[in-house]
Amino acid sequence: MSDVVILITGASGLLGRAAHKKFEAENCLVYGTTCSRTREHLLHLDLTAEEEVRALVTRLRPAAVLHCAAVRFPDQVDADPAAATRLNVEATRSLCVVADAVGAPVLYISTDYVFDGKQPPYSVTDLPGPVNLYGRTKLLGEQAALAVNPETDHNVDLRVLPVEACACGVPQEPELSGVFHWSGKEGLTKYQMVVQMAEVLGLPHSHIEPNPNPPTSSAVPRPYDTRLDSSRLEALGLGRHTPFRTGIQTAVRPWLPSA
Ligand SMILES: NC(=O)c1ccc[n+]([C@@H]2O[C@H](COP(=O)([O-])OP(=O)(O)OC[C@H]3O[C@@H](n4cnc5c(N)ncnc54)[C@H](OP(=O)(O)O)[C@@H]3O)[C@@H](O)[C@H]2O)c1
Repeated sequence: MSDVVILITGASGLLGRAAHKKFEAENCLVYGTTCSRTREHLLHLDLTAEEEVRALVTRLRPAAVLHCAAVRFPDQVDADPAAATRLNVEATRSLCVVADAVGAPVLYISTDYVFDGKQPPYSVTDLPGPVNLYGRTKLLGEQAALAVNPETDHNVDLRVLPVEACACGVPQEPELSGVFHWSGKEGLTKYQMVVQMAEVLGLPHSHIEPNPNPPTSSAVPRPYDTRLDSSRLEALGLGRHTPFRTGIQTAVRPWLPSA
């Protein structure tokens, strides 16, 4: 077991769980945090409680922090903007401040939703233009993470679409800083994903039809196509792409009858 301590926030979430497993497999001393979900192997941490965050980070003195926790459902953000801002922006800022105080770089997980979805693929130098409040809070979180200490300048902002596992090499590269993108190579609509999932599961799908007029009035607006140009990450040899169908096959294999 390596003595490199990694702290992962939001380790009870979709990405955090995958990242936690990955770092454990790499023999890191990994501490994951949860908030409302109780998990034996995770530490309880409410990121909006500044003193709690300071105490944990000061005690663990991690070599790096992978910050996955967020309110990530656009409708949930619109329903309670103040709570989303407290977690996505203010808690990000205070986590980065205490991490900086112990010399730990933070890998902030952002989102493709910082872009408007009109002119993909987006490079790291393209101007963000979020179309909903979720995207705006995540963009403010990015800015907070990158501004925390211009002198150390060691935080990394990773914009992802969709979440697969995690670019787990990034926190172990001490010289990295700035904004990186990662996304799958395929541009798929939800309908195309459902068809591929049905095919993998051997289920009929001819009764499912794409909706040419997706609802716009009541739902929170979403960017249409936010494929990201991942070349900055790939140049480091860190980008990993799994075709959607292969990923689904791997995920459902344990539950298929022939497994
Ligand atoms: N999922 C996607 O499709 C997607 C796409 C692009 C980018 N992202 C970004 O990727 C990151 C991870 O997303 P995800 O899908 O893994 O999210 P998720 O499954 O919704 O998990 C969110 C995590 O945040 C934690 N959390 C919530 N409130 C907290 C608080 N007050 N203090 C501490 N932790 C708190 C949750 O803990 P409890 O559940 O234990 O409360 C949970 O572990 C986010 O930054 C998101 O913006 C996600």
